[in-house]
Amino acid sequence: MNKIIYLDAAASYQKPETVIRAEMDFLMHNYANAGRGICARASHVDTLIENTRSCVADFIGAKSEQIVFTSGTTDSINKIVGMLKLNSEHIVAVSDLDHHSARLPFEMSGAGIVVCPLDEQLNIDVNNIPYADVFVITAMSNVIGVQQNVSEIIRCAKIKNPNVITVVDAAQSVVHSEIDVVKYDCDFLCFSGHKIGADTGVGVMYIKHPELYSPVVFGGGMVNKIMGDKILFNSSPDVFEAGTLPITQIVGLKPAIENIKQNRPDLNLIKYMYDELSKLDRVKIISKPDSAILTFVVEGMHVLDFGTLISVRGVCLRVGNMCASWIHQLLGLDGSIRISVGAYNTLQEMQTVVKYIKEIIK
Ligand code: ALA
Repeated sequence: MNKIIYLDAAASYQKPETVIRAEMDFLMHNYANAGRGICARASHVDTLIENTRSCVADFIGAKSEQIVFTSGTTDSINKIVGMLKLNSEHIVAVSDLDHHSARLPFEMSGAGIVVCPLDEQLNIDVNNIPYADVFVITAMSNVIGVQQNVSEIIRCAKIKNPNVITVVDAAQSVVHSEIDVVKYDCDFLCFSGHKIGADTGVGVMYIKHPELYSPVVFGGGMVNKIMGDKILFNSSPDVFEAGTLPITQIVGLKPAIENIKQNRPDLNLIKYMYDELSKLDRVKIISKPDSAILTFVVEGMHVLDFGTLISVRGVCLRVGNMCASWIHQLLGLDGSIRISVGAYNTLQEMQTVVKYIKEIIK
């Protein structure tokens, strides 16, 4: 078997050693539950969690009380949908760039759905922003890989409706570009830890005005006092974090953020692949020359066949509809093949993969 070449960072990023060591050290020497005790260990755990929370807040330009830990982007968006208490009188704008987890929770909410048009370059068309009560913005499609102009989309959405609630899915963009929630002026923003090198099971939900919303999950850690039939809830973020948090993963999220701030994926590798694959007649590239990922199909070959043939050569990449059915439908495709890189990938790996692709499609 060849050495594995992992080109699927967009699905899940390989973990830096600092993350693994932080989690191991926590599990071996410091483990306890959070928010549950006054012993030295329990309060140390609380400190570790709050340290990560302020690191996340700093990472996206927010305040600590605006940062809620969830299990991931999907969990965050489902919670947001619950918090917004949507019904058939509300209009939610979505787009064909959306991943299933950004759009399905809204589609299932009973609200009316309007699909925001894309321009010729497959970006959200800022000249055709529809009226909406809630606007869902995928900051970067996991198929097209282009950073959307989030601030401008939100500015235009607010012209149509000054009270619009904006929800940014930053699951794919967070690894590549700096996020500034103040500049975006969004109401909600979410991302998952595992796409920036943290563990699975931890995600972030930013809420601009947490005091305006009620929790949708109830349990321990969110209650200040119960007096007879009166319940006094804690304030944010505790009120939105019922139950035991994914503590170990939260501990690993801080070194993951510290790492990604210093070591972003080298997109010259994607550009190299774009240039090389553009020379191959049977390859039809779907992503753009400046995309953060490379997505393509091979004429006359099913994506699953390609996936099998590249996989036996030791290359891990993603094939299929990427949980992004709408963009594939728009492009008339059943699926596609995606290459995505982390800071750990090298040019030599790309050269090897180009060689394998040539072998497969010759
Ligand atoms: N949403 C992830 C991806 O694009 C899983 O692969």
